[in-house]
Formats: sequence, structure tokens, C-alpha cells
Amino acid sequence: KNLVIFDTDPGIDDAMALLFLKAQPSIKLAAVTTVFGNAEIDVTTRNALYLTQRFRIDVPVYAGASRPLTIARRSAPAFIHGEDGLGDAHVVDGFIAEPAGGHAADRMVEIVRANPGKVTILAVAPLTNLALALQRDPGIATLVKDVVIMGGAFGWGGRRGNATPAAEANVHNDPHAADMVFTAAWPVTAIGLDVTSHCVASHADAAELAESGEAGRFLWDISRGYEALYQRRNQVDGCCLHDVAAAAYLVAPELFTLRSGPVRVVTEGIAIGQTIQKPDGHSFGPNAWDGHPSKLVAAEADCAGVVESYKAAI
Ligand code: BDR
Ligand code: CA
Repeated sequence: KNLVIFDTDPGIDDAMALLFLKAQPSIKLAAVTTVFGNAEIDVTTRNALYLTQRFRIDVPVYAGASRPLTIARRSAPAFIHGEDGLGDAHVVDGFIAEPAGGHAADRMVEIVRANPGKVTILAVAPLTNLALALQRDPGIATLVKDVVIMGGAFGWGGRRGNATPAAEANVHNDPHAADMVFTAAWPVTAIGLDVTSHCVASHADAAELAESGEAGRFLWDISRGYEALYQRRNQVDGCCLHDVAAAAYLVAPELFTLRSGPVRVVTEGIAIGQTIQKPDGHSFGPNAWDGHPSKLVAAEADCAGVVESYKAAI
């Protein structure tokens, strides 16, 4: 089985991704680690606990970073995931639970050390916990099997951002952490916003899943405002499966076309949070990508295939 640490900020599409992962027989979740992002850390942690308990997912939840490494925390945009991070559908009202002990970054290090070469970190949120884990123990970079990220935007269809015209939200929330993660010695596969924005579960898909069982009904309830937002903002008839697309890469990598080359993140100025890959084989003058290891970036994907695998799982 593929041993996976799921680093997340639930978050509506994070909830979709967790329920997608739950259904995969080839995946064993070693931990759910939480971070600020779609809401503050207490909220994302509570939501992760709620989701694991309600859907009987047997995995410890560890709380992580409450703020970015270097820049100031920007307030979470409640119009996307709701004040409660799960669409303000009142599903978490009154729910209280305590995460398991220890900081997410420390637990990440321990799990990787205990399972050398076996752990995939699936990160669908600001990359702060991963950067903290690297700071605490740089040696884990050579022990991790893969780091799969929903984050960044690399330009497929011209798309570069959602937080700003230049930057995707997960990277924009902590650009310094993202640059550290992208330049570390571990393998990274990034599924960016430019690709995930094409992976749209339609209104009819969501309605069909709502009739198919508890998970589908729950996801329908929490995603009404989220879907309306995408209909308005992206002019699509449904909502984007950002975090699900990265999770789908773990079980169906053949759905993605990857491009290799080092990736850097802009850490100041108007393009802060922009992710830029230098494709292998292209020569330039001396530049900030020199000497950094190549990473894999999704250049395009079979998004209908991603939506199909999501529908099959929920
Ligand atoms: C990413 O940002 C969050 O709002 C979503 O959960 C996803 O991880 C998309 O940019
Ligand atoms: Ca997320």
C-alpha cells in the first residue's frame, strides 16, 4: 500500500479529496496534518477531526502551522470556503474534538524516519508544515518517496493565479515555504491550478453523487456556495476539484502529462507567490534556477478522467 501523509486545510475541496482518498484500496493514510489556509488553524483542524470521525477514517489528526514562515498571515477569504471552512452549511456546528498530540511537522519527520522510502506526502494547502519539517530534519528529503502538491500555476491555458493574477492561493499563502519545498532535494510533483481548474465536477455530477450515499449528500450540502462561486467566477457549470486532482495523481498518474525542470517561487513584489519552472534542456544566462534539482509539474491532464475517478470513489 502507498503510505500517505495528507497535509490539508479543510476546506471544501480538501473534504472532497479526503473522501476520495478514503475510498482508495491502494492507499493507507498514515496521518492527516493540518495547516492554516482556507480558514484559521483551529478551524481547519476541527474540520479534519470532524471529517475523519463522521466518515470513520481511522487516522490520527495532527495540528500544524497557524501562520506563514516569513510574511504576515492574510485573513482567510470567507467567501470561498465559508466562515467555518465547510461552506457554512452548519454541519460542524457545536462539534469539538482534540487533535492527537505533537506538532504536525514533528510527526511528519517521525513518520518519514520510521518508514524510509515509503511515505508520500500529499500537500493540498500552504506548504508551511513541509518547510518546518525540512528545517527540523533536512535528512528527511532523501527518505520521502514523493511529495505531491496541489499548488502553484504554471500557465496551461494562460492561467496563473486565483489569489492574485500572478499567484495560486496555497503558494501565495506562504511563498517562502513553497520555495523551500520546491528547491529541496526530495522529489516533487506539482499539480497546479492551471490544470486543476479544468477538472470540474458539474452540477449534474454533484446532484448524482448526492443521491448515491452519505458522502455525496454531505459534499452536496457543503458545496452549494462553492459551486455558485465557480459558476460566477470561472463560468463553469460546477466546481473545480483542485485538491482531488492532486489526490487522483497518486492512484492514476497516467492521467497527467508531466514536465521536468527546477521550480522557483517569487517571494516579494507584485508577483509574490508566482511559481515558475525552467524546463529542462532550455539554456538561459545565469539565473535563480541554476543548481536547483528538477521537479515534475503537470503540463496538462485528462480532466474528464479525474472527474470520473472522483465520481467512482464518492
Ligand atoms: C487551493 O486553495 C484552496 O482554497 C483550495 O483548498 C486548494 O487547495 C486552490 O488554489
Ligand atoms: Ca486545500
